[in-house]
Amino acid sequence: VNEATPAQKIGEGWGSRIGVILAVAGSAVGLGNFLRFPGQAAQNGGGAFMIPYFISLLVLGIPLCWAEWVMGRHGGSRGFNSAPGIFSVIWPHRLSKYLAMPALLIPLVIYMYYVVIEAWCLGYAWSYLTGDLMLGSDPQAYGAFFDKFVGAGEDGALLKRGGGNLMWLVVITFVLNFILIYRGVARGIETFCKVAIPAMAICALIVLTRVLTLPPDDSGRTILDGLGFMWNPDFKALAKPSTWLAASGQIFFSLSVGFGVIINYSSYLKRKDDVVLSGLTASSMNEFFEVCLGGLITIPAAFLFLGATVGDQGTFGLGFNALPNVFAEMPAGRFFGFLWFFMLFLAAITSSLSMLQPVIAFFEEGFDLPRPASASLLGLISALGSGFILYFSKGMVALDTFDFWIGTTLIVILALIQSILYGWKLGIDRGAKIAAEGAKFPIPRLVQYLLKYFVPTYLIVILAVSGYKDL
Ligand code: PHE
Repeated sequence: VNEATPAQKIGEGWGSRIGVILAVAGSAVGLGNFLRFPGQAAQNGGGAFMIPYFISLLVLGIPLCWAEWVMGRHGGSRGFNSAPGIFSVIWPHRLSKYLAMPALLIPLVIYMYYVVIEAWCLGYAWSYLTGDLMLGSDPQAYGAFFDKFVGAGEDGALLKRGGGNLMWLVVITFVLNFILIYRGVARGIETFCKVAIPAMAICALIVLTRVLTLPPDDSGRTILDGLGFMWNPDFKALAKPSTWLAASGQIFFSLSVGFGVIINYSSYLKRKDDVVLSGLTASSMNEFFEVCLGGLITIPAAFLFLGATVGDQGTFGLGFNALPNVFAEMPAGRFFGFLWFFMLFLAAITSSLSMLQPVIAFFEEGFDLPRPASASLLGLISALGSGFILYFSKGMVALDTFDFWIGTTLIVILALIQSILYGWKLGIDRGAKIAAEGAKFPIPRLVQYLLKYFVPTYLIVILAVSGYKDL
């Protein structure tokens, strides 16, 4: 019983409390906050989206996030860092490790397409530096640039995309991710997040200030109209189950809940480390970045240029297509454009790292592979996957499809499994006791009941109803 855990044996563990919070926040704050959130909100009627969104945050997101922190630290204290190990600690049954498979599959598959978008961000940042993206005030020009960049048009040949640069950008992004992952939890992930998150906040605040002070466009639309599109509630959409599925999908995606990511990160905590306040702090940081920065930059700015068609851009298209128009119009737009896409790139790396670590932990634990071998194996698998996506996907199609199936549907299923595991297998009384260790305040009792009864029921209902109605 006194044996060192596998993680401790190889010296794996967080360096500091603020470090782990920033690492989880780094996982949470990503393209989801700045691209996916505005895209989802726009597609689901703007203001109509925000009510299900906040309800989902309170009754699903935060409770499940706590459940993951608690289960992760608990599994870690028993010597497990991978989801199959942690699930088996909580429910010692041979099915447990199979139920944990989505917790490996989801981050891995999301990584495969996420890293491609990450590379776009790097490419866009670079294109602002070189001035290639200063295309003047013709909105068409940016759409064309984007299509050429991602290979959406007729001429989608892989090697021609991004002016021949896309492949390199993807390779650079991959290598950077794997260097950091190879350095490990504290020396790689934590060190990077501690620098990247403050840097992101500064860049985003500068861009936000600029966007909110934009002059009206030619037709007299002001930035206030854009804000209104996002923030005026429209209660009609509440009757649509798909809006609720989209809202809970966005909450999960954004908080990195239901991915097997938080459960892995928190397994590197020490037994007496607080989970309640840390979980809440990381989630609050995420919401600040999403609602205050992402929500106030992309949609209002895009609305100025696209008007009511902001909803037709696909999940990830908005930030790439619409914002460059805004940068073109503003003084020193080249600098702001660079800042924005560089910020996106940082946000994306701190997230993609967290998609790799769960799988690394699984290779280390399940196959007893040392870190270099785990990292190489994962590098190979994910490179094949990304290559496949790049090759077959011209433009956004594959990304949007994956995003719907994995990013919206499969994570709801994993969240369901986790809530049952926490509420019924670990049990809310034990859960509360474990959570209280090292915590300054307990998880509210109401949240425990939500996790046991409400969350699983709600998730089953949304899955059933939206599956029936939309598919
Ligand atoms: N939460 C991240 C974002 O908002 C995405 C993410 C998904 C991170 C899955 C980790 C795991 O972009």
